[in-house]
Amino acid sequence: MNKIPVIIDTDPGIDDTIAIIMAAGSEKIDIKAITTTHGNVGLEGTTKNAMALKEFLGLECPVAKGAAKPMIVSLKDASYVHGENGLAGFELPRPKGTVCEKAAWDVMYDMAKAAGGQMRLLVLGPMTNVALAVLKYPDFKNYIKRIYMMGGSRSYGNHSQYAEFNIWGDPHACQVVLQSGIPITMADLQFGSDYGISVKELRQIYSHAKKLKPMMDAFIAHDIKRVERKGKKYGCRYDVESFEFAIYDATAAAAMLLEDDSLETEDYYVVCETQGSQTEGRTIFDYKNHMKKRPNVQLAVKMDRQKYIRLIENALAHFE
Ligand code: RIB
Repeated sequence: MNKIPVIIDTDPGIDDTIAIIMAAGSEKIDIKAITTTHGNVGLEGTTKNAMALKEFLGLECPVAKGAAKPMIVSLKDASYVHGENGLAGFELPRPKGTVCEKAAWDVMYDMAKAAGGQMRLLVLGPMTNVALAVLKYPDFKNYIKRIYMMGGSRSYGNHSQYAEFNIWGDPHACQVVLQSGIPITMADLQFGSDYGISVKELRQIYSHAKKLKPMMDAFIAHDIKRVERKGKKYGCRYDVESFEFAIYDATAAAAMLLEDDSLETEDYYVVCETQGSQTEGRTIFDYKNHMKKRPNVQLAVKMDRQKYIRLIENALAHFE
């Protein structure tokens, strides 16, 4: 079977890690590179995590560093969600290798050109690296088959009332990519929330995983503590075992892996607000086609939940 060439642009990150494992554990995917960006934690942290995960999984692909900060807005991070080290405090073995000398955007361009137009990008963090590749290389869009992004929201936000974290992290970059002409499948916040997985299910999913079980245990314990802290703060008690976690980046990986299977999408013309005093980072969907523009986004709206769960389960068990 011809494997699909993919570059994963990421800010690992708990859910990034699961998405990377899904791609690495899939016989359909050939990970050509992992490129890192600012996001969940700073660039040094995301790059260290990417290097450590790549070596822990035994991947051959290079890791290339990208942008340390957004194009224009101030740098943000989500360490209060992912922990100070970005991996819920779990320590992977220290990486022995070194990062690629080329910058992320240059690796994206060179590898996409070499892939003759078949390269996919799985974009799991702020889109700064992709935007810089689009701006630096006018023909970059000709070599990218499709972007599968975790980002944006058709409705509510998570890091502001309207903005989803990745896009809030660099709204200008998102707008550059939305206007680039590259086909985009968007796994937005709502899609991730629609496919939440309970703690009880997660424990079953990774019960067969040997090598990755300690890391998954740490992720679950960290997220349970976070939910319990939130519950105390708002005076509500959660039944933790049935609490559903949205593994956002994993749903973007699933959108890529289930594209020719059960994924259903809806076409929209989408822009990103870069100036709003209340809505900076909001992805705005032209539901009624007021702008009379051709759709630039396929919004992921449905997939086979059991197949999604199996993708995670099989990938986690793949690594011994
Ligand atoms: O809003 C969810 C996104 O923000 C995910 O990519 C998660 O890793 C965080 O970066």
